[in-house]
Amino acid sequence: MVVGVCTHLGCVPNERRGLQSDGIDGGWLCACHGSVYDGSGRIIKGPAPKNLEVPSYQFMNNNKTLRIG
Ligand code: FES
Repeated sequence: MVVGVCTHLGCVPNERRGLQSDGIDGGWLCACHGSVYDGSGRIIKGPAPKNLEVPSYQFMNNNKTLRIG
């Protein structure tokens, strides 16, 4: 799970499905300036400077509940 906010200027990246022309299977594209993230949110192509953020999370209730944030 990642936060769907581009690390460049804060736009919302769109999900990509299937094998793309850049060789990446799926992932995320920020159409604003062309940043590409893989399916785990790792930056593949800038200008975004960092991976998508992984939110803080905590397992609770004997691992039956996941609290995000
Ligand atoms: S805001 Fe995403 S690439 Fe610029």
